[in-house]
Amino acid sequence: MIFVTGGAGYIGSHTCVELLNAGYDVTVFDNFSNSSPEALVRVQRITGRKLQIIQGDCRDRSALIAALQQSRANAVIHFAGLKAVGESVSKPLNYYDHNVVGALRLLEAMQTCHVQTIVFSSSATVYGDPVYLPITEDHPLSPTNPYGRSKWMIEEILRDAYRSDSLMRICILRYFNPVGAHDSGLIGEDPQGIPNNLMPFIAQVAVGRREHLNIWGNDYSTHDGTGVRDYIHVVDLAIGHIRALAALKNINSAQNDQSSGCMTVNLGTGQGYSVMDVLRAYEKVSGCRIPYQIAPRRSGDIAACYADPQLASQVLGWKARFDLEAMCRDSWRWQSGNPSGYQQ
Ligand code: NAD
Ligand code: UD1
Repeated sequence: MIFVTGGAGYIGSHTCVELLNAGYDVTVFDNFSNSSPEALVRVQRITGRKLQIIQGDCRDRSALIAALQQSRANAVIHFAGLKAVGESVSKPLNYYDHNVVGALRLLEAMQTCHVQTIVFSSSATVYGDPVYLPITEDHPLSPTNPYGRSKWMIEEILRDAYRSDSLMRICILRYFNPVGAHDSGLIGEDPQGIPNNLMPFIAQVAVGRREHLNIWGNDYSTHDGTGVRDYIHVVDLAIGHIRALAALKNINSAQNDQSSGCMTVNLGTGQGYSVMDVLRAYEKVSGCRIPYQIAPRRSGDIAACYADPQLASQVLGWKARFDLEAMCRDSWRWQSGNPSGYQQ
């Protein structure tokens, strides 16, 4: 049984589909602060399987203990948390509370319930402004905002937890830029308010909810001047979690290799695309023209960021399969079929 915190969210719901399809039983623990229970109804429709749903908050240790015991979980995937960079600058304490305190309470509850395996959602944001590209896992860590620092702190807490208990099995996954949706068109990203991220914004322009895209700067030192990122299909990302669970299960405790029970792995494609590349690919698959305006650079943005994905291939046997066109096509299928997201 896999205990999935934040399982109703964007990446969590796609991971639940892959878990159920792979034959795992799943319990979702979510406070629905940034998601809809409808996502889980649809996960069950896609897979034809049931999952257990427990509404609760990760900062509530006793609720976590009760839920872990009820579910008889033997591993946890921890997605729950807040993720808006701008908001983390204006409400840092809230971010440290949900993210750092939430992770701490979860680890305590796991200890009480003798659950030793955890896969954690970290982010490429922990690297900050890249010193070199592509980014390998040993790139220096220098997050530039409270959201990024909360992820970095949780990573350190996990590494310390492993140092104190080498029977723990920990996989820290650093996601690059997750986009796209399940190819059923039933689940996808459903941002509240104005989307911060590029692809959901483009999707809302394409569907007519917004007038035009602002391109934040076209004077970066990239092939066309616009920012370059490593976009990764959310289904590829979800499958990365299944591979991480399998890799953790296969670690031999007799191996006596101090680092093997706690791994940190990039999940990206290794390929960078610019804002203009994404816009053109989206226009192609949707058949819609996406009006845009060039605007000043967004504060805190970097020119380019993409992963070296080799370690994931070596230790997880995982490689991204979907290309940019598939990411845009699946995003568009979700957005055009659900113009208001999960709200009917
Ligand atoms: P999301 O907001 O769609 O999902 C997060 C889920 O956690 C939501 O269902 C929300 O209701 C729940 N939640 C939030 N705080 C909670 C709490 N205190 N207790 C219980 N549930 C809580 O976000 P997502 O895009 O699916 O991201 C999942 C994880 O991946 C997050 O930790 C995020 O920081 C990380 N991540 C996301 C991205 C991205 O671009 N989407 C990139 C890198 C890392
Ligand atoms: C953002 C977060 C980062 C997080 C990542 C993945 C910030 C500063 N950083 O990064 O911490 O890990 O998402 O979710 O928010 N763009 C536009 N117009 C838009 C939106 C974006 O031109 O309306 C451009 C950006 O300038 C950037 C690219 O599109 O060059 C991608 O932006 P975005 O999707 O927000 O991702 P990141 O900047 O990588």
